[in-house]
Amino acid sequence: MGSVSSAAGPTAVCAEAPSAPVMAALKERTFIAVKPDGVQRGIIGEIIKRFEQKGFKLVGMKMVQASEDLLMQHYIDLKERPFFPTLINYMSSGPVVAMVWEGKGAVKTGRVMLGETDPAKSSPGTIRGDYCIDVGKNIIHGSDSVESANKEISLWFKDEELVTYTSCAFSWLY
Ligand code: RTP
Ligand code: MG
Repeated sequence: MGSVSSAAGPTAVCAEAPSAPVMAALKERTFIAVKPDGVQRGIIGEIIKRFEQKGFKLVGMKMVQASEDLLMQHYIDLKERPFFPTLINYMSSGPVVAMVWEGKGAVKTGRVMLGETDPAKSSPGTIRGDYCIDVGKNIIHGSDSVESANKEISLWFKDEELVTYTSCAFSWLY
């Protein structure tokens, strides 16, 4: 006989609760930001839709006019690059939508969903591959490692701005 499923999720084959390390892996978080051009061009909803339909869980979101100080800290690793002043100017040019998405492999999968830094090198089907043209106007940021994600999340969000809840989709995803 097959497993029994209900609106609360498949139950018959999940007798044991996942171990702590397995649960921790399912709670990996990444920092995603719709950049000022993505906001101005009306692509916020499309970006949220893609992360939602993939199965990631939104645990924090806000619209921010970021200060230069915040942006310089965010992109501190790039401070010696020739494009750094242009990058800070671009990121200061309007509000951004800052988000935290949670789920198994959220950092790495998030980067795959974004595409390459240069939209011209991004495959169709990726966000940058589908919605932008120029590296200097590439509409979205995504953390490049779990370590960076943790740093970026604490830079952009206070603890109390992030929520803890169980999505009703959880047992249908994992
Ligand atoms: P992000 O941090 O924004 O998600 O982008 P990324 O990891 O794909 O690329 P990164 O090397 O971290 O660069 C950060 C942002 O700087 C701008 N950039 N301009 N003119 C250029 O050659 C150049 N290279 C990078 C882009 O907006 C890039 O996303
Ligand atoms: Mg980066």
